[in-house]
Amino acid sequence: VACRAGRYGPTMRMLLPTANADVQPAEVYGAAARPRPEGRPWLLANMVASADGGTAVDGKSGSLGGEPDRAVFFAIRAVADVILVAGGTVRTEGYGPALTPEAHLPARAARGQAPHPRLAIVSGSLDLDPTSRLFVESPPESRPIIVTSATADAGRRADLAAVADVIEAGAERVDVGEAVRQLGGLGFGIVLSEGGPSLLGQLADADLLDELCLTVAPVVVAGDSRRVVHGGVPEQHDYAIGHLLTEDDVLFLRYIRQRG
Ligand SMILES: NC(=O)c1ccc[n+]([C@@H]2O[C@H](COP(=O)([O-])OP(=O)(O)OC[C@H]3O[C@@H](n4cnc5c(N)ncnc54)[C@H](OP(=O)(O)O)[C@@H]3O)[C@@H](O)[C@H]2O)c1
Repeated sequence: VACRAGRYGPTMRMLLPTANADVQPAEVYGAAARPRPEGRPWLLANMVASADGGTAVDGKSGSLGGEPDRAVFFAIRAVADVILVAGGTVRTEGYGPALTPEAHLPARAARGQAPHPRLAIVSGSLDLDPTSRLFVESPPESRPIIVTSATADAGRRADLAAVADVIEAGAERVDVGEAVRQLGGLGFGIVLSEGGPSLLGQLADADLLDELCLTVAPVVVAGDSRRVVHGGVPEQHDYAIGHLLTEDDVLFLRYIRQRG
């Protein structure tokens, strides 16, 4: 592998919109325009899929990623004000605090963003451990946010309220549209969803996926893991390519929602 490194680590090849043998993913993702739609924040999602559309092996997405995907994962996190993630993914992927790697701090400061994105966890059961690293090790200025519904268990809610900010959106289940609007009301302009697939299904249903960052890993995994977006009412939404990067046979697609 040629030694093509820069401030953020190895560079990648851009194939679209223009060919460029050496780009820094952090600069490419950081420079993209994300205009705030009327009444709500911009919403992007980041997911990794195998070449056959799988999203997990043995219940986890980790082995699909690899080193270039890690670099892009952090480049995308670096643009987020808040990371919206479902309780299921927090549990299966063992989420810790979302700390920004040092190299990305100057760009966040230059964009007027807090050093670290907040984590907003969507959960109805509130089956989340308040003593886990995610809560205990998050810096005080980036306390996690719990997004739940009115009927959630009051005892669990009180336990989590000691270590997180709790917002209520929806009666029986979380209404994701309402949740995203409330996050906008808290001042977050860019919401990144890291899934899982069932959360993205609800966001797609509400036509909130402005940008889909999709890593395609050069592996076939078979099995019955969910597609990147799962459930919801089948309806075609059109996207255009924002960019396409590649490294080590992995593709990094950035799709932008085309409305009207
Ligand atoms: N390939 C990738 O990039 C990627 C990314 C993320 C995840 N994954 C994989 O995807 C799988 C998990 O995805 P999944 O689709 O099964 O589950 P998921 O979307 O991660 O989580 C579902 C859970 O989120 C909470 N939730 C979602 N919508 C809710 C709502 N409207 N109201 C209240 N709670 C809500 C519930 O949690 P409570 O039970 O706490 O109420 C629900 O059980 C794992 O295997 C993970 O490894 C892959």
